[in-house]
Amino acid sequence: MVESNVICPSCKKNSVNVRYQTFWMCSECGEKYSCVSGIPKLYLEESLGMTDKGLRDKVYKYMAWFYNFWNPFFMLPVRPIKISLKHWLVYFLLVFSFIFMVYNVIDLIAFRGIENVTIKDFLLFAALVIFIFVFSKQQRYAYLLLLAIPIKIIVSIRSFVPKKSISSVHDEFLKEYLESDKRIKMLDIASGTGQALYRRGYMNLNADYTAVDLSAGMIVQGRDLMVKQKAPVDFILADATNLPFKSGTFDICTNYGAFNGFADTKSALKEMIRVTKKGGKILILDEQEYPEATWLEHVYYKKVFACYNTLAGSPVDLLPEELEDMQVHQVYEFIYVFSARKKLDVQKENEIKTDLVKTKNGVLT
Ligand SMILES: C[S@@+](CC[C@H](N)C(=O)[O-])C[C@H]1O[C@@H](n2cnc3c(N)ncnc32)[C@H](O)[C@@H]1O
Repeated sequence: MVESNVICPSCKKNSVNVRYQTFWMCSECGEKYSCVSGIPKLYLEESLGMTDKGLRDKVYKYMAWFYNFWNPFFMLPVRPIKISLKHWLVYFLLVFSFIFMVYNVIDLIAFRGIENVTIKDFLLFAALVIFIFVFSKQQRYAYLLLLAIPIKIIVSIRSFVPKKSISSVHDEFLKEYLESDKRIKMLDIASGTGQALYRRGYMNLNADYTAVDLSAGMIVQGRDLMVKQKAPVDFILADATNLPFKSGTFDICTNYGAFNGFADTKSALKEMIRVTKKGGKILILDEQEYPEATWLEHVYYKKVFACYNTLAGSPVDLLPEELEDMQVHQVYEFIYVFSARKKLDVQKENEIKTDLVKTKNGVLT
């Protein structure tokens, strides 16, 4: 249980020791933290970054319940066809509906004559207006509809082969823990629906897990998954840039698919390192373009894949001096994995092992 390592986000003392299913309270400063569906909300609304709050309230609040369907939709052209068939089906349904609606308007005006308008024409026109309105507000979807097929063709022709696959990067990362009998503590930050925590091999560890996220809708689904699996996971609503844990609590600290979108990536990395034990490891997976990306892939990456991001790629430019054995692997066309170990001794020199090279503006190419 992580509870003994919790600190108050307000006064930073290890004194959040009044605990009910309805709220937790810091006995030192008196700050009360409400519980949402039994999960303590250990963050202060006023200290949240604007973009983090915006995404929580405008995106995850509504999308959380179909996140596991909706999120892979944006990766449509870069996922193997056999695992994205239902997404392609939705894609073609949308494209053909749009073409049909436009065709109907042209047919009415140019051939049948506007005086012959029917209720069906009116409904189709209304649907077209709504379609255009939604896609102009959510340009990410519009770009996806436009670019999915050309990008699929480009990535199929070029067929990117990573120097190390995502599973071998994870196998290497976890090896020492799998070989040891010691029970460890692991933290998954921005855990969302818990997919990465559940699927990336961590469940084979001899570990107590803690999962944190900003969005109640997302984390409740993560909890439901782990309840089903009877996995030893504590869930806490927390802000990645102000984690409510004592320094040096966790052996492993991970962050999947969220880091580059944080309002304050520097503080998020600092916090990740702070709560990790000396000698412990961190792993971040998020978006980064592969060096050979064409102009059109770049447009897709910017407008669809990474449209909410504040950071262009892996956090190597933040170069924290507390880390060593830093590695960056481009595991897919648009995904990197960054891993590192927290130094036992901060005086040691830094060196990054990367299968990429650095350009002058700091973006990996
Ligand atoms: C793309 S989802 C990734 C979910 C999960 N890690 C996965 O791989 O399926 C991004 C998650 O980051 C969370 N998030 C965004 N800003 C956050 C912050 N400042 N602190 C904690 N979580 C945050 C969102 O609520 C969302 O659940």
